[in-house]
Amino acid sequence: MAKLAHAQWSSRMGFVLAAAGSAVGLGNIWRFSYLTGESGGAAFVLVYLACVALVGLPILVAEWMIGRRGQKNPINTMADLATRHGRSRSWALVGISGVLAAFLILSFYSVIGGWSLNYTLGSVMGSFTAQDADASGAAFEGLLGDPETLLIWHTLFMVLVVGIVARGVTKGLEAAARVLMPLLVVLLLILVGYGATSGFFGEAFSFMFSPDWGALDGGVMLAAMGQAFFTLSLGMGIMMAYGSYLGEDVNLLSTARTVIVLDTVIALLAGLAIFPIVFANGLDASSGPGLIFVTLPIAFGNMVGGSLLGLAFFLLLTFAALTSAISLLEPVVETLEERTPLSRLGSTLVGAVAVWLVGIAALLSFNVWADVSILGLNIFDFLDTFTGKVLLPLTGLGAIVFYSRCLEKEEARRELAMDVYDYSLWNLLTKYVAPLGVIVVFLAGFL
Ligand code: PHE
Repeated sequence: MAKLAHAQWSSRMGFVLAAAGSAVGLGNIWRFSYLTGESGGAAFVLVYLACVALVGLPILVAEWMIGRRGQKNPINTMADLATRHGRSRSWALVGISGVLAAFLILSFYSVIGGWSLNYTLGSVMGSFTAQDADASGAAFEGLLGDPETLLIWHTLFMVLVVGIVARGVTKGLEAAARVLMPLLVVLLLILVGYGATSGFFGEAFSFMFSPDWGALDGGVMLAAMGQAFFTLSLGMGIMMAYGSYLGEDVNLLSTARTVIVLDTVIALLAGLAIFPIVFANGLDASSGPGLIFVTLPIAFGNMVGGSLLGLAFFLLLTFAALTSAISLLEPVVETLEERTPLSRLGSTLVGAVAVWLVGIAALLSFNVWADVSILGLNIFDFLDTFTGKVLLPLTGLGAIVFYSRCLEKEEARRELAMDVYDYSLWNLLTKYVAPLGVIVVFLAGFL
């Protein structure tokens, strides 16, 4: 891999940070908590944890290894590796559906990133001060009902993303992530502490961890698996692209474990911070995508130093969202750059404008287009559901099947530094458990 000496992560730490920067985002705080609330709590959480361990881990390693072998963008990597192993070039479809998923996800992700920016400003202006549940709900409803304001923040968020991607300030970003990510964890811990004094911590804890299996159906399982893909940035070629910059010396398995533990801990902390506030204020846990934006301001409005903490929290959330959004734009830009005559800058602009336009359709679905529906869902819900429950699992399935059936076994075993015994277990996991898990859950979700 000498030829790539210039294009490698500076260190294992740099790689972990970049991968964690993509993984940790709105998915951990906004999406995890609203899905948990909507899907009845613990049954969802436990299936999600099982999916992360049994499906997410193998697929993360598979995507990295495919990327490290292929050394190209996801579409070409898949096509080249397939040819090299005597398989059909249509494996490139896995890359293509990943790029489509990234495009669609970024369009609504940016709308939520915009909400986070709006709430950052809200904390500066002191709008949460002494706010009760009704006022907080009304403020959020007001935001959703106002397309111009939503548009301004969605636009600003996309401008920030483009600004960062176009200037390629990865170095600065990595350095910032080093400081900001731990800060986010500290803030979440403070919020969990606040939740612990609310008198409803026990209730929140059992909501999240003591399952009512009656609540479990195919739909909840599919949502949990979709969330495992979403939160780990899987099924989109992103981790494949990251793997292509990876040196031979990095141990994929232990690195994957580190990233996954970090990502999961942040999601669980977010849940433990949010649900006590939900229950203490008699809010509806199943209220959907607005959950954190209605609950957290109540806490910030009523705790000592709340406006400062609120400001810090929404700033950090925005930052986490930005590092994820950058990783989402990258596959789109890379594809345009390599498949059209556009330059890097041109591709970034064209890709971003297209994403921005679809995002406008998503934000209008909260107000003027509330009645427009695709398969019974409004545009926003359709984008979130279709990508999370269909595109990501299918792309991830493609990656794990390709890894376990088409790549050379012995080489993979040595690469993972496993002995024969461990590798046979790993083989079981990657060849049967993970793919069958995805297929079964996928099918059950549509019954
Ligand atoms: N994993 C990110 C999150 O949890 C979102 C994301 C999904 C980023 C897919 C890149 C790819 O917010």
